[in-house]
Amino acid sequence: MKSSEYAKYLLLEGSLHSKLVPPPKDLEWDCPEPIRIEKPNRESKILWSEKKSKIPRLEHLNQARLRGETLHHFANHELMAIELFAWAILAFPKVQLELRKDWLRTLIEEQRHLRLYMKRMGDLGIELGERPLNYLFWKQIPWVETELQFTSLVSLSLEGANLDFMQIYSRAFAFYGDSESESVTLQVYCDEIKHVKRGWLHFSSQVSNDMSDWDFFRSQLVFPFTPRRAKAYNFFPETRREVGCSENFISNLGDYSDKYSNQWKQNQLDAILDLPYLNDPRNRLKELVKGEGIV
Ligand SMILES: [Fe+2]
Ligand SMILES: [Fe+2]
Repeated sequence: MKSSEYAKYLLLEGSLHSKLVPPPKDLEWDCPEPIRIEKPNRESKILWSEKKSKIPRLEHLNQARLRGETLHHFANHELMAIELFAWAILAFPKVQLELRKDWLRTLIEEQRHLRLYMKRMGDLGIELGERPLNYLFWKQIPWVETELQFTSLVSLSLEGANLDFMQIYSRAFAFYGDSESESVTLQVYCDEIKHVKRGWLHFSSQVSNDMSDWDFFRSQLVFPFTPRRAKAYNFFPETRREVGCSENFISNLGDYSDKYSNQWKQNQLDAILDLPYLNDPRNRLKELVKGEGIV
């Protein structure tokens, strides 16, 4: 099977099952003309929705159903990530093979994340599609014209923000004694570090001498999408250090705000961030899955 055929299958076949099919071992990388798919096909139970679906508040995560809804929110992001990496393989077929292989490696891990979330959601009594599935990531795709814009949007912004969200929510699940959901979010976190790293390596290799990496990053984004979307309502600079981002980039990202910043006030956030394993998610994950062979 050719890479373009596989990417089309993920985007157009439509079933949830098809989105989770891994690439064949003998995938052949082809370089056809670029194809920009505007919207993926989805079977009825996972259709896009215009309805707003807010992530539950941290202080309500003592309720199993609302922890499930939180995971549903993240599962939607993973589903869109799978589709968007397939989209990039089709839209930028002529970029260097190593970058396209990185997109495929990431896509396979996004499939794993979606499976992990769906399994845990099932334990908590909720199925994918029971809540509205927004298409916030796809809404940005019309302005993405280059592979660097794609990297800046998806890897550095959306996946970057996910590092912060996984830091917050793994602690939130721990806070309420749900070690299984905590374990899932920590596994996702460890993979997402690799994803943002892949993006950062490609991005930083393209920065020219006459521009700072931060200015270059900003030049790749199209308003109204701003760097606010590259972090969560709480920013964890150490996660971007682990990725390998420059101190200049990290401090500018930390300082950045726009008129929509600071909208979230989370009542339990301080207590949750006080949890002792703050800076050591990998060891915490090892503790949680000891003997299960996951790590
Ligand atoms: Fe993911
Ligand atoms: Fe990712």
